[in-house]
Amino acid sequence: MADFIGAVDQGTTSTRFMIFDHGGNEVARHQLEHAQILPRSGWVEHDPVEIWERTNSVIQNALRHGGLSATDLVAIGITNQRETTVVWDPRDGRPYYNAIVWQDTRTDAIASALERSGQGDVIRRKAGLPPATYFSAGKIQWILENVDGVREAAERGHALFGNTDAWVLWNLTGGPDGGIHATDVTNASRTMLMDLETLDWDDELLGFFGIPRAMLPAIKSSSDAGAYGVTRTSRPLRGAVPIAGVLGDQQAATVGQVCFSPGEAKNTYGTGNFLVLNTGTELVRSRHGLLTTVAYRFGDAPVVYALEGSIAVTGSAVQWLRDQMKIIKTAAESEDLARTVDDNGGMYFVPAFSGLFAPYWRSDARGAIVGLARYNDNAHLARATLEAICYQSRDVVEAMERDSGVHLDVLKVDGGVTANDLCMQIQADILGVPVSRPVVAETTALGAAYAAGLAIGFWQDTDELRTHWKESRRWKPLWSDDQRAEGYAGWQRAVERTLDWVRVP
Ligand SMILES: Nc1ncnc2c1ncn2[C@@H]1O[C@H](COP(=O)(O)OP(=O)(O)OP(=O)(O)O)[C@@H](O)[C@H]1O
Ligand SMILES: [Mg+2]
Repeated sequence: MADFIGAVDQGTTSTRFMIFDHGGNEVARHQLEHAQILPRSGWVEHDPVEIWERTNSVIQNALRHGGLSATDLVAIGITNQRETTVVWDPRDGRPYYNAIVWQDTRTDAIASALERSGQGDVIRRKAGLPPATYFSAGKIQWILENVDGVREAAERGHALFGNTDAWVLWNLTGGPDGGIHATDVTNASRTMLMDLETLDWDDELLGFFGIPRAMLPAIKSSSDAGAYGVTRTSRPLRGAVPIAGVLGDQQAATVGQVCFSPGEAKNTYGTGNFLVLNTGTELVRSRHGLLTTVAYRFGDAPVVYALEGSIAVTGSAVQWLRDQMKIIKTAAESEDLARTVDDNGGMYFVPAFSGLFAPYWRSDARGAIVGLARYNDNAHLARATLEAICYQSRDVVEAMERDSGVHLDVLKVDGGVTANDLCMQIQADILGVPVSRPVVAETTALGAAYAAGLAIGFWQDTDELRTHWKESRRWKPLWSDDQRAEGYAGWQRAVERTLDWVRVP
């Protein structure tokens, strides 16, 4: 008797497979990192073949750790790093180029040309997104223009585009032997190619980037028992397990945090930070630098929209302290080091490594450390890094409150960085509202499992899922209002110093 749901979480830095029981509790997991390929400044790539191999390994290992086999899984869900672009040949499954990752800024000239030509306003209106290097369309255009033979192949139907959900799905369901080429509506909403109202690829948008429609996956509901087929070619999942849910990682976390009502929001702290506010069936246009995006669509129910504040660099700034600055050996040491000082010593760090995303959308920004005095040391840098994670989150919370009129009385958080108690205390201090972390902090995988489980009736409805959510810890603000105002004013001055640094062609 199959009693569990599995979830593939194909992330930016690693791929996980997690198995959940009927109560939404974790039963087993396995996780493997993949290489971050950095060929030159601003370029970030992944090897899609490595990602597919890692996916198979983590499925196999998680099943083994749990003492389970494919027949114990009623269904699986897939969630993924969004926007990251893979183009492959369906005849043999070979990628034409490495995956171009969401953080990659090589398409800045493409993005700024859209703005100059006035096409930016069309993209904002139809896709809900500002033209930026972040999204998939410019990355597809770059591959079509820079990799020999891809444009001709695409026109003959010999080149498929997908985000990593579609790449993993196609490989799981048969690959060159009848693999299913589909994506869900949340992933499609991040390409700059989908119209948010029709929920279909838009010919005018495709025209801006010169992308043939034949390359694109079919757009499906996020939770659907029949749309995504069954596993066929995966080594560990040869037992034909239905794939019943697909969602971008931040939308999956929104589902995992059971933000099912308009006005409910979560903030995920991983490689970057992503605040997502459920706005219900209403499409809310941002006037303060947020994205309008799809939260999820379950079955044939109306689509649910969201406002999102995307921040490119948060947990990855901690990795930068570890790997480039080498002032800590593990991410967790950032907390120990930052605790050796009481404050930032006047120092601010704005980690604008990929320019600034929400609410600024400035690809001309680059990172800066400001306010330095002879007094400052490594510990202040660690502290300023944790503060930067929290100040960037305050920037998007303020934008969200202005756009939606929703005032948060508590911030629901999740993701790797939320293991850092000091950082979560600083977040409560900087925002002036309590911060709450659930027992299951792996909300991304959980949300993909929920989407799959709802589709096949393993769970009845969202009310049932709500009963699974439990708080593990809450942090209350300790700073005075003056301290909060002064700190934030310093942050805003620091952000100004990062702007207009790179001259975008
Ligand atoms: N104790 C800690 N203090 C600060 N940062 C931490 C801590 N533990 C992990 N991190 C950071 O959290 C991030 C990993 O979190 P998580 O696994 O949620 O990321 P993710 O965004 O889901 O990864 P991916 O993008 O691969 O999906 C890393 O960037 C790491 O630097
Ligand atoms: Mg993740």
